[in-house]
Amino acid sequence: LVTSSSSSIWYDEHISLKEINAEENFVFPKNFLFGTASSAYQYEGAYLTDGKNLSNWDVFTSIPGKIADGSQGKVAVDHYHRYPEDLDLMEDLGVNSYRLSLSWARILPKGRFGDVNMGGIDHYNRMINAILKRGMEPFVTLTHYDIPQELVVRYGSWLDPQIREDFEHYAEICFRYFGDRVKFWATFNEPNVQVVLGYRTGTYPPSRCSKTFGNCTHGDSDVEPVVAAHNIIRSHLAAVSLYRTKFKEQQRGKIGIVMNTIWFEPVSDSLADKLATERAQAFFVTWFLDPVVFGRYPREMQEILGEDLPQFTKDDLKSFSNKLDFIGINQYTSRYAKDCLHSACEPGKGGSRAEGYVNANALKDGLHLGEPTGVNWFATYPQGMEEMLMYATERYKDIPLYVTENGFGENNTGALLNDYRRVKFMSNYLDAVKRAMRKGADVRGYFAWSLLDNFEWISGYTVRFGMYHVDFITQERTPRLSAFWYKNFIFHHRAQS
Ligand code: NOJ
Repeated sequence: LVTSSSSSIWYDEHISLKEINAEENFVFPKNFLFGTASSAYQYEGAYLTDGKNLSNWDVFTSIPGKIADGSQGKVAVDHYHRYPEDLDLMEDLGVNSYRLSLSWARILPKGRFGDVNMGGIDHYNRMINAILKRGMEPFVTLTHYDIPQELVVRYGSWLDPQIREDFEHYAEICFRYFGDRVKFWATFNEPNVQVVLGYRTGTYPPSRCSKTFGNCTHGDSDVEPVVAAHNIIRSHLAAVSLYRTKFKEQQRGKIGIVMNTIWFEPVSDSLADKLATERAQAFFVTWFLDPVVFGRYPREMQEILGEDLPQFTKDDLKSFSNKLDFIGINQYTSRYAKDCLHSACEPGKGGSRAEGYVNANALKDGLHLGEPTGVNWFATYPQGMEEMLMYATERYKDIPLYVTENGFGENNTGALLNDYRRVKFMSNYLDAVKRAMRKGADVRGYFAWSLLDNFEWISGYTVRFGMYHVDFITQERTPRLSAFWYKNFIFHHRAQS
């Protein structure tokens, strides 16, 4: 990275390190993973290179009007070719892990209906070796939203139960080729976001939206989100079982799932709003975690959806005993929840009458939890990190937690290198992680989203999350203040062996 003198000038000008490191003397456990996180579609580019086939996101982004700036991930930040340079940046930060995802369409261009693409396997083998060579642990997500378009064309992807066979096949290929070196596997990244945006609001592929969701113009079935989710949960269970029975003994890795978490606070002290908060959690996070840990959907979902909630089979239930090795917590933002079972639901605000709550964040009325960032879905509320980690600890007891993503996004403000708002954000959220750990949360890692600016889904390149600024034309990477800060943070907080 760069000289410490230039970073200290920045620090002195804008923030005193003392002021932002409130929990200064905390030392993280020896094996704690510090890393940065990325995903294939957002970073790699090389969208048809070395035998890769189209993914659902390649196709979705080519439809006019879907992405804020009309952009695509065809090149993204060209990580496919530039990963050695990017891994050097990570090594310099002093991280000991890198969370990345694999592109399914690169490994199985036609899903289980075609051959393994050795071009893709060779690429990831080289990359995994390069990660290990730099003293970092690869933390690998199998699916971070992008799936082979072939599966969409053949049977419509997640609404069809047969996708479980495809996912299991894909997982097996990954365990077989990479499992000798990859010791951390996450089956899915944020399946809750994937189904809510893909099947309720219609803003992500496959652009399906529920009738009860106010902004829906065509109105697909209300039960699609729960059907897609059910198929995802069953796919997850199949991959975990496969790992346990066929690979675990030899490979000795860990397998879990990564959720987007929103911390919900009741908008008032009324019992109705407090119960709405529980429903909000149920219809977002515990929706996926309760089944994979306890073998059943959360009570609130059962009560509201009744027979619309799909059932698990006897076979599924057998695999519940396999539990999870870890839960990945992506934590960014918090919201107020407001009851709307007993009063009118305002449409279009996330949640719905069918879920019995709405997000009560209304920036225009000045009613919002936390500090707005300028990015529409995102207000900063560090306390939400502590609450979420404690909530997961209390509910799922002995299952270790990793903060698999946390980071600060800003609307494209050009070449803003002095990102002191990001530094404050990371510092305050990491303090909240420390507080949770002091209270007994078994947190074993923290991954900053993200090393580099990258393709931010429907926001395209208009929202930047990087500790490194990326010039999307020249692909030049330039460190921001936060890169210096994170390096310094890790240096001071890492247990000395
Ligand atoms: C979580 C998602 O996993 C990631 O892909 C996304 O870029 C970040 N949130 C920021 O929105």
